[in-house]
Amino acid sequence: MYLGKWNQSDTDYKALINQWHVVEKIDNIPLDKPYAAKLLGENIVIWRSQEGIQVWKDYCGHRGAKLSLGKICNNEIMCPYHGWRFNTAGKCTIVPAHPNQNTPNTKKVVFPYKAQEKYGYVWACLGEPITDIPELPEWDNSEYRKVYAGPYYYKGNALRSVENFLDATHFPFIHANLNGDPDSPDEIQDYTVENLEFGIRTSEIKVFQPYGDHRGIPVDARYIYSAFSPTTAYFRKRTGETETFCTFLTATPADVDETIIWLIVAINYGPELTEEKILYRQDMVFEQDRVIVESQRPVQLPLDPKEEMHVRSDRFSLAYRRWIKELGSY
Ligand code: FES
Ligand code: FE
Repeated sequence: MYLGKWNQSDTDYKALINQWHVVEKIDNIPLDKPYAAKLLGENIVIWRSQEGIQVWKDYCGHRGAKLSLGKICNNEIMCPYHGWRFNTAGKCTIVPAHPNQNTPNTKKVVFPYKAQEKYGYVWACLGEPITDIPELPEWDNSEYRKVYAGPYYYKGNALRSVENFLDATHFPFIHANLNGDPDSPDEIQDYTVENLEFGIRTSEIKVFQPYGDHRGIPVDARYIYSAFSPTTAYFRKRTGETETFCTFLTATPADVDETIIWLIVAINYGPELTEEKILYRQDMVFEQDRVIVESQRPVQLPLDPKEEMHVRSDRFSLAYRRWIKELGSY
């Protein structure tokens, strides 16, 4: 397996290989053509079949060509080089140069991965999934309007990106005058971290935000952050009695230093506010984060607590690192 810039023995790689990851939005996959993407350093091909979405290694083991350059014919994928065809079970159905011979055993020729559609995304797992695709709690709740934001492309690390999303103490600096006041940064009160069935969650963290959301008004925000998988995180932010703004973030670890961020926001107020206003603010915030995440060294998230300095408000980030280390220690 080609791993891009990862080593197969890296703890973060081992923590990620058995997880579900978004690889593309389903609407972006052509109806009649294979589509190339990348996950965990591996080139993959996504294609639609009658049995559902397919995610395979982008490789034909006859002479190593990329299947994404081929075609879809009668619910089979055809390699561009010598026209071998493969059905959704990964079986070779024809070798055009020898149409009357038995087709070769394809165990070493094509490599289908586990794939599913959920929330409008294609999800794939390159290993054996140890859990289901994370739940977006508000997905079926019609009181919450859902808006897709991104994707945002970072030349940075997925776990650094998710950790950044789960950190309220950078607001006054990176998102000055939006998510925090640089002249009066909030003192962060102690909060707790609890274990979920799979993942971790904080208690409430309070911050003042001068331009707290797409309404453009100052808010006293109460955040509860969760990490549902190493690359899927979520917050629920309350700004009034009932006003709630949730963000479901999932980061594609395309390579050690290549990340695609996908967001779904779920909001139960301000139906009159336009999608443009919501996206304007999201785009600005994630662009500000991009610059920082791309600057971080080492690129990979340090999982040993001794490697960086920590303060009390880093409790969640430390729990996140500890959890990933546990997941990848086998
Ligand atoms: Fe795929 Fe020859 S390389 S058919
Ligand atoms: Fe940020």
